[in-house]
Amino acid sequence: MEPINVFDYETLAKERMNPAYWDYYAGGSDDEVTLRDNQRDFARIRLRPRMLVDVRQCNTSTSVQGLPISMPILVAPTAMHCLAHSEGECATAQGAGAVDTLMIASTSATRTLEEIAQAASGPLWFQLYIYYSLDVAAGLVRRAERAGYQAIVLTVDLPAMGNRERSRRHGVPMPPPPLVRANFVGIGQEDIGQVAVTWETIDWLRTITSLPVLIKGILTAEDAQLAIAHGVSGIIVSNHGGRQLDGVVTSIEALPEIVEAVAGRCEVYMDGGIRRGTDIFKALALGARAVLVGRPIIWGLAADGARGVQQVLSILHTELELAMKLAGCPTLASINHTFLKL
Ligand SMILES: Cc1cc2nc3c(=O)[nH]c(=O)nc-3n(C[C@H](O)[C@H](O)[C@H](O)COP(=O)(O)O)c2cc1C
Repeated sequence: MEPINVFDYETLAKERMNPAYWDYYAGGSDDEVTLRDNQRDFARIRLRPRMLVDVRQCNTSTSVQGLPISMPILVAPTAMHCLAHSEGECATAQGAGAVDTLMIASTSATRTLEEIAQAASGPLWFQLYIYYSLDVAAGLVRRAERAGYQAIVLTVDLPAMGNRERSRRHGVPMPPPPLVRANFVGIGQEDIGQVAVTWETIDWLRTITSLPVLIKGILTAEDAQLAIAHGVSGIIVSNHGGRQLDGVVTSIEALPEIVEAVAGRCEVYMDGGIRRGTDIFKALALGARAVLVGRPIIWGLAADGARGVQQVLSILHTELELAMKLAGCPTLASINHTFLKL
């Protein structure tokens, strides 16, 4: 039977995937409280639909950082897609492009950022981890610019790796050889230093690139204010899919205070626990410009390569349209907090 929702893709992916890889993708940190609550908190929010609205024409097209896309649903940066499918991130980029949306490619991809750009037909942003040194990071940013990436997304919630016990129990190195973090091939011992990523790093990043700089992993109004003060072009509210500090606020819970603090000064996005069109509707109603989807993309990729990624995005798109119609919102602009009972 054809999968009809993202959970069907989850089942297919689990059947097909090596258990160690599955646990790497599926797991969270510590007791996985945040992993579970990311989804659970969406279910807690009730909708207040309006009736007798003409919803025959329902339009989900929008833009992010001025880039037109068909739906407010982006591919979150996730590492090591070759564990899920032999074509890895290249297939993911093709799937996203096929439905006219944007992919954020991870620093820790198993294909180089150039290979991903070659394969892509839609817009790309580059997610940056500053691992080894500022010089190495600057090299990645220059390569991303040259390859046509249209923004840099600095992930800031990984000053250390979270305690991911499911993955640790397998004892399999990530990525397992012969797979590599493709963007770092050729980086020598001499390039490896220690860097503290701080607010000053944002200032530095803005001096080395003319691309918009977005920040991913913000969970408080205080940090959102600082992000604005340091000139970011966008904020992604995220707890890294429950893989970093366990027990933090969920993304959907943190979103309202961040939207309020930002007060329209930059675009705000969110990720974590998006599994249904109604989840997307709720995030937009709380002020997100768009959402990012992490694990469901990997499920589509593992089940059916580029086509699976395309299908997962199409399913979420169709579900969002249906939610908009049933709630009485023919346009994205008409979705607001009055459609929610909090
Ligand atoms: C397997 C896996 C790998 C990830 N790798 C990255 C990464 O390389 N860079 C990054 O910024 N976030 C990474 N994330 C976090 C995602 O971008 C995103 O915040 C999270 O997956 C959203 O939650 P969801 O999976 O419930 O949609 C990863 C998440 C998962 C599940």
